[in-house]
Amino acid sequence: MATPSLEQLTAQLEPFKQTHVLQFWDQLDASQQAQLAAQIESFDLQQLNDLYQSKDTQSHWGELAAKSTVPPAITLADFADEASFEAAYQSGAELLSGGKVAMIIVAGGQGSRLGFDHPKGMYPIGPVSSNSLFQIFIEKVMARAQQFGSTIPLYIMTSPPTHEETIEYLTQENYFGFNPDDVMILCQGVMPAVDGEGKLLLEEKGKIFVSPDGHGGALLALEKSGALADMKQRGVEHAFYGQIDNPLVQVCDPALLGYHAQSGSEMTSQVVRKNDPLQKVGNVVSADGKVQVIEYSDLPEQNARETNEDGSLRLWAGSIAVHIFKTDFFDRMSQTADSLPFHRAHKKVTFVGTDGQPVKPEQNNAVKFEKFIFDLLPSAQNAIICEVDPADGFNAVKNAPPATAETPDHVKAAISDLHTRWLSECGVEVATDTQIEISPLFAPDSRALKQKIDADSNFPAKITAETYLQ
Ligand code: UTP
Repeated sequence: MATPSLEQLTAQLEPFKQTHVLQFWDQLDASQQAQLAAQIESFDLQQLNDLYQSKDTQSHWGELAAKSTVPPAITLADFADEASFEAAYQSGAELLSGGKVAMIIVAGGQGSRLGFDHPKGMYPIGPVSSNSLFQIFIEKVMARAQQFGSTIPLYIMTSPPTHEETIEYLTQENYFGFNPDDVMILCQGVMPAVDGEGKLLLEEKGKIFVSPDGHGGALLALEKSGALADMKQRGVEHAFYGQIDNPLVQVCDPALLGYHAQSGSEMTSQVVRKNDPLQKVGNVVSADGKVQVIEYSDLPEQNARETNEDGSLRLWAGSIAVHIFKTDFFDRMSQTADSLPFHRAHKKVTFVGTDGQPVKPEQNNAVKFEKFIFDLLPSAQNAIICEVDPADGFNAVKNAPPATAETPDHVKAAISDLHTRWLSECGVEVATDTQIEISPLFAPDSRALKQKIDADSNFPAKITAETYLQ
């Protein structure tokens, strides 16, 4: 197809006052012109304009928070209740052994805070093994499938900035032993960002700045890539969803799957009891009969600090972005246009100035538009939440040192602490300050570890040196 002319593109951009993106047109070669024209054609400028104009108000979120309660929840006490736990575990085990469960990992973020020069999934996070986040996740899925003698198809979502390198890496690593026929790598879409006046930003003279459209982009990406159709064809009924940056995700946990299935829930979300009223996690609430999430940045402080009579936090449930979806629900939502709204995020974006030179802003200068997967909750029937102790299931890699939280060192320590605890629950002593890591293929959870250790009369009673059990 011929590249549209400068006049045609100007006419397209003029109504939205975006013609500045053509200011270097004459300096571009034919292929750069074609690239820029294709970008412009792919944008919905009306939508972008509407998004820029619409501003969320704190009062809206305050009103919502005031009438919110915490939705139906399976709490740690339920997990401790053996009868209910066993029933849930058996129900989840049946789903897993029947091949009715898939795993989705979202890995399309740019990991800008971590400042790692590759897709975040390639980050070496194993405290002893230095295995990457990808390897740990993939082994978790393989281990769970082996545990139940079934297949768990894996869908990894990337984005244009992470796609090629992820494929190259996983191919080179032979998918860490995962059957490539059971893995699909799908790429999410992008959205342009705008500056404080609603203007598009140029990343290069012939390229408009775009970024991944948020983890909520998974909905469309799963549909468009054929992943949903693939799940259906395989008879998958539930998709377990986790983020690549949290290696503690209890991948396809049978009890969690069981509680979800027993509740007839279309979407189940794992939450933690917030350790601070202002903890930076989405707040899972119930309002107007619907389960929904109020992002921490939207929740007014006074609502966040409200307590019950016993002093506990009223809105206690923090989302950790671990969800289980019924695939039918995903399917239904992917057919509904605009089933997920866009959120605004203020970020620093380097751009090309009017003199053609790069401008590196000191302050946030851009508004990015992102969809969040948790916004599917209000549309789900019988949505429930399940509490997890963060020590068992939540520690995400976000920041580079010297940050005081969510750095690789914090996450490595959390993995080692968890695995040390598993061993001590099995009666194995671990010397103080000893790094421990258990490969998911050795034991995917404490229950499996117990079975393994009980069956091995030679397993040491005490571990005194850094150990990777594999
Ligand atoms: P974050 O929003 O924390 O982003 O994503 P990030 O890329 O990890 O880090 P920053 O904010 O740039 O520093 C949480 C999870 O959602 C995925 C990320 O890969 C991560 O697993 N994600 C985020 C996507 O898959 N796509 C997106 O567009 C955004």
